[in-house]
Amino acid sequence: MCGIVGYIGNKDSSSVLVDGLRKLEYRGYDSAGVAIFENGTIKTVKSKGRLDDMEQKMEQVGRPHGHCGIGHTRWATHGEPSDINSHPHGTEKLSIVHNGIIENYLQLKEFLTANGYTFVSQTDTETVAKLLDYYYNGDPLETIQAALKEIKGSYALGILFKDFPDRLYAVRKDSPLIVGLGQGENFIASDIPAILKYTRNYYLLEENEIACLQKDKVEIVSQDGKPVQKQVLTATWDIEAAEKGGYDHFMLKEIHEQPKAVRDTVSPRVEDGLPDLKVESLTDEVLGSFEKIHIVACGTAMHAGMVGKYVLEKLARIPVDVDIASEFRYRNPILGKNDLVVIISQSGETADTLAALRLAKKHGIHTLAIVNVVGSSIAREADSVIYTWAGPEIAVASTKAYSVQMAVMYLLAFKLALVKGEITENEARFYTQKLMEIPTQLENVLCHADDCKQFAEQIKSSDDLFYIGRGLDYSLSLEGSLKLKEISYIHSEAYAAGELKHGTISLITEDVPVIALATQGALYEKMIGNIKEVKARGAKVLLVCQEGAELADQLADYLLEIPAVEDILAPMLAVVPLQMIAYYASLLRGCDVDKPRNLAKSVTVE
Ligand code: F6R
Repeated sequence: MCGIVGYIGNKDSSSVLVDGLRKLEYRGYDSAGVAIFENGTIKTVKSKGRLDDMEQKMEQVGRPHGHCGIGHTRWATHGEPSDINSHPHGTEKLSIVHNGIIENYLQLKEFLTANGYTFVSQTDTETVAKLLDYYYNGDPLETIQAALKEIKGSYALGILFKDFPDRLYAVRKDSPLIVGLGQGENFIASDIPAILKYTRNYYLLEENEIACLQKDKVEIVSQDGKPVQKQVLTATWDIEAAEKGGYDHFMLKEIHEQPKAVRDTVSPRVEDGLPDLKVESLTDEVLGSFEKIHIVACGTAMHAGMVGKYVLEKLARIPVDVDIASEFRYRNPILGKNDLVVIISQSGETADTLAALRLAKKHGIHTLAIVNVVGSSIAREADSVIYTWAGPEIAVASTKAYSVQMAVMYLLAFKLALVKGEITENEARFYTQKLMEIPTQLENVLCHADDCKQFAEQIKSSDDLFYIGRGLDYSLSLEGSLKLKEISYIHSEAYAAGELKHGTISLITEDVPVIALATQGALYEKMIGNIKEVKARGAKVLLVCQEGAELADQLADYLLEIPAVEDILAPMLAVVPLQMIAYYASLLRGCDVDKPRNLAKSVTVE
């Protein structure tokens, strides 16, 4: 995890670095720090806690002024969040910031200790700083090359060498890093929003490419020192999109961006009313040859995959497994040569998901990535890519990324079903049309914020809560429950409604509210039975159903209706009240909505 930035140019680097780090705080916020060249020395300020704490410390100890520096925002892995474990780490000769994990840091530490080095932190990063120091011979490039040969693991590094105050070095492997290209100034950053205020042009560093930035030029060489010509890429995200735009929180803004995100993702993939994935490598022939699909992802992305399983199996009649990436990668999965592995990821950098992709590729299986961040590792390594066009998602709790991931699952299902002859062209047109109507319906659902807020009032003091649903509603209840847990810290469980009575119903009391999702006509009566069961145990029930559902107002204590929609598409609408309930519950409980405790947006470690 962690976010890194670096700057070289004529501006005061402390403000550029702090600015950039603010955009990267979603990657971790256990501590923050900067190291800046000031009058020929490297001045470091770092502190446990949020960026604001580090800025306060800067005011106390004196803000460093200089034209070149590096910065870091940390999500702790090796060593607790503390001042001493904060980055940058350094020696007399150099200073570094690091995102990733050095797997052989204990061996390196042993080696360096035997060579007279002492360690002050518990971090793996400090071993890299000292290893660079050990190899330092007056030539930064040779020093980095020598150290890289010894390091195992993942890293994005920003490096300052005391003898070279007009240079900033960077290198990456398995952790993201871009080089931002300005006029008379250049940048490094873990992600695009950190540089958007200054430039849209950037290079993507490939594995073990080493970048040397000066204010007027950037040179990139391969690990063995050969110059590399890079293509300049241009970010299409605008600054506004990466800011809060008038909303109190990024999460609320991103919830409201869902109609646009779904429209942007679906519209370009519809031709003449039919789904068209626009992926060259996925011809009808290739699509028709797949016999089984494995969807692999983590967290919310995995929940989108569960919706995908349901829809793909129902329409395309193709067997689908959904796997948690961290399980898939270690369980020696059975993969057939005609299988398709679908990898879903917002960031495109999630370590377990990336490893699962690599495993599938090692088996020679076609991999399709559904990814939001253009040029991310997963997008680059997969055989085929479908980008979701949600724009930057900053809030740690994923909302709009989930909706667009589901939207792509639907497009894939409609297309596969058509190619396999499981649905007619007319049916494909019908479903595609209904999917295209979803953004307008979402705008309607978003008007019910007050109802969600009122319900959040009811549950804000609850210790436990249940989500129940059947079929697609069960998949969705997993996501609703995750959202509530992660940002409001209310414990909740998602249960297949029919399974509740096999043990778990013993936990239902009058103090345990139940959110019952009943958007599926064919299962509605069964859900009525399940709602009655929990009500008989004293539970207060919120029913989420489609407008016009029979007896809805008499069944439950609270009611939230979504517009009438094809059952199969209901999760696209029903997720919104669940996101809003989580948002308002978090707000009412005084939690940090956008940056919940212990979490980070981009999980680039195992
Ligand atoms: C929850 C959430 C996480 C992510 C998961 C995968 O709100 O955001 O569960 O969905 O960490 O991240 P990506 O999609 O970036 O691979």
